[in-house]
Order: sequence, then C-alpha cells, then structure tokens
Amino acid sequence: MIERLVVAIDGPAGAGKSTISKKIANVLKLEYIDTGAMYRALTLKVLEEGIDINDVDKILDILAKTSITFNDNHIYLDGIRVDKEIRENRINLHVSDIAKIKEVRREMVKIQRKLSHVSNVIMDGRDIGTVVLPNANFKFFITASVEERANRRYKELLSKGEKNVNYEQILKEIKERDRIDSTREFAPLKKAKDAYEIDTTNMTICEVVNKIINIIEGR
Ligand code: DC
Repeated sequence: MIERLVVAIDGPAGAGKSTISKKIANVLKLEYIDTGAMYRALTLKVLEEGIDINDVDKILDILAKTSITFNDNHIYLDGIRVDKEIRENRINLHVSDIAKIKEVRREMVKIQRKLSHVSNVIMDGRDIGTVVLPNANFKFFITASVEERANRRYKELLSKGEKNVNYEQILKEIKERDRIDSTREFAPLKKAKDAYEIDTTNMTICEVVNKIINIIEGR
C-alpha cells in the first residue's frame, strides 16, 4: 500500500500540464505544486527590479531575499498574489533564461522538495520525475505537437484579453523555449525512464485526466 501519494508531471510548454494537474489534484485530493510558476515568479521579480537577465550574481542575490509561497492554489511573491502577472507575455519571453541558471535551479529544487513533504502531492514542471522527485510513485510525461501547443497558448492569451496576439509569433517563441528547456546543461527537459508518456495532441483534457487517474488507481 502507498503511504503517501506523489505524482510527477513533466512536459514541454503548452502541453496542458497545469490544467491537467489541477483537475487530478481536485479529484484525488492532492496538493498541487506548479514549479513553472516559481520560476515565473522569480522572473517577475527580476524584471520588476530592473536586473539584467544575464547578471547571475544579482539574480541569486535577489532570490535569496525573495519569498515564493503557495496558498490555496495561488502563488505569492513576497506575500503578494501574482497569479496573473506571472502569465504575462513578458514573463514567457524571459523565464527560460532564468530557469537555465544552475544555482537558481539548485535553490528551487530545495524549496520544491520541502513543499512536497507536506502531503500527498502532484507537482508539475520539466525535471520533476528526473531530478526533483525521482522516487515519485507515478511519473507522467505529457506532450503535444508544437503547433497544437502554440494554438492552445494563442487561445489562452486571447481569452485573457491580451492584445496583439499573433499565432506565428507564439509558435516561434514556444519553439525557442523548447530549444532552451531541452538543451540546457542542467536538468534539461526529458522524459524519466519510468514515466508514462501521453501525447495529448488529439485528446481532450477530460480524456487525459481520466487516463492518468485510471493508471494511478490501477484500473
Ligand atoms: O510550465 P511553465 O511554462 O510555467 O514553465 C515556465 C518556464 O520554467 C519554462 O521555460 C521552463 C521552466 N521550468 C523549468 O525549467 N523547470 C521546472 N520544473 C518548471 C519550469
């Protein structure tokens, strides 16, 4: 019998990880931890403070003085709720550069492991099954074609009322983020050997959620 349920969800940008993870968390009563949101929150702070994105020392210094916490599925940066701000396009454009810094990753992994110890969890990101929680009970690698992922991001930005959204531009940006995330030296995006791979290109969210829950529940 499993004492504590730990589920790791990895995959590229726009594959639907966070939507799927939230729904699974809801059904199985798990704590949901969005690690991408943590890198996004740090990126927000770096941009707001006007720090050069290449100035690693300053970024580490600011990270040491920054609090990133979750409460009730909301993320707080130094005590202020920033769910909306971290999804802005200016964050999309810079977050991969912050996330590729080795020392930033080391600190984030420490915080993520601590967060995972509190209860039954589902954690999503890029390196959860490979680095952060290698002993997770279940690991899933969620993918979709790059065109489908760009299309999902495009619709998401439109629905949030963002102006000047351009599909071709988003496609280019997602390809660039895929490139940085999968080729970086430290903890690149890759499927853990023992992860179930699910290509969601032609699946609905509901189908993906059901498939994962069936696997976890051993059906
Ligand atoms: O999942 P997301 O799009 O919110 O992730 C934002 C960025 O953070 C993305 O470029 C990859 C990076 N990331 C990472 O390197 N490791 C994680 N565990 C989560 C996200």
